[in-house]
Amino acid sequence: MATFDRVAADFDRFRSLPELVPAAVRAAVLESLGMTGAVRVLDIGAGTGRIGAAFVTAGDSYVGIDPSGGMLGQFLKRLTDLGGAAAELVKADGRRLPFSAGLFDAVLMVQVLSNVAGRERLLGEARRVLRPGGAVVLGQSVGPPQGVDARMREKLAEAMDQLGLYGNRPGTARSQARIDLAASAVRRIEVVAARWETVRTPRDFLTRHQTGARFSSLPSATQNQLLLLVSDWANATFGSLDASSVEIHAFELESFFF
Ligand SMILES: C[S@@+](CC[C@H](N)C(=O)[O-])C[C@H]1O[C@@H](n2cnc3c(N)ncnc32)[C@H](O)[C@@H]1O
Repeated sequence: MATFDRVAADFDRFRSLPELVPAAVRAAVLESLGMTGAVRVLDIGAGTGRIGAAFVTAGDSYVGIDPSGGMLGQFLKRLTDLGGAAAELVKADGRRLPFSAGLFDAVLMVQVLSNVAGRERLLGEARRVLRPGGAVVLGQSVGPPQGVDARMREKLAEAMDQLGLYGNRPGTARSQARIDLAASAVRRIEVVAARWETVRTPRDFLTRHQTGARFSSLPSATQNQLLLLVSDWANATFGSLDASSVEIHAFELESFFF
């Protein structure tokens, strides 16, 4: 069973993006590549197709891969709901891609790097299947550095340290991947594909986090301890778990050309 199989059914419920964001991400990827259409995209860690579906419905030559059959099942369901467009979805590990070299204009990875051990192999495979002049594109949605999610994430990392669960700090894997890619890329472009207003509360963060692949794989006693520590802190810091903040979030893309 792949790690994300367990959380596939709930993934979209807690991590949906505003309706216009996926198409804006596709447009920004094409613009970064200097292409207007007929783009050959490989989406590593395609998941439920939150972003990938926009490429499929636009008729691009899109291939999505993911080791989680559960996540790909949700992707197919999304496509059915959108009218039944066909997509090439392959159950595979990004560290061993079943494709020959030089096939794709762009290799997309959206919120994948922190979930994969073996970063070098993943990035090596991404580069192998790119055509010369193609780009590895990293994407993520981000909130303000002092926003509710960022502060809750940091507190949770601290609580994990306190319990001796030494994991990487949030964002470490992605930062390391960016350094690796930048060291060998010939060119790099950063763009904000979309911005939107959203309302965040500490309770929403905790509810969402409990459906995360890594958190939900911890023993339930540990999960409860962490939730208690962070809830106490959030109550003291924000006044209530339901204190709401209006924030601007953005979808950022960083393209590395090879
Ligand atoms: C947080 S989800 C992001 C899904 C999608 N990119 C999105 O933004 O909606 C991370 C995805 O990476 C996938 N993943 C984990 N390990 C992987 C690997 N070794 N190769 C490719 N994908 C992997 C997971 O199964 C999961 O679907």
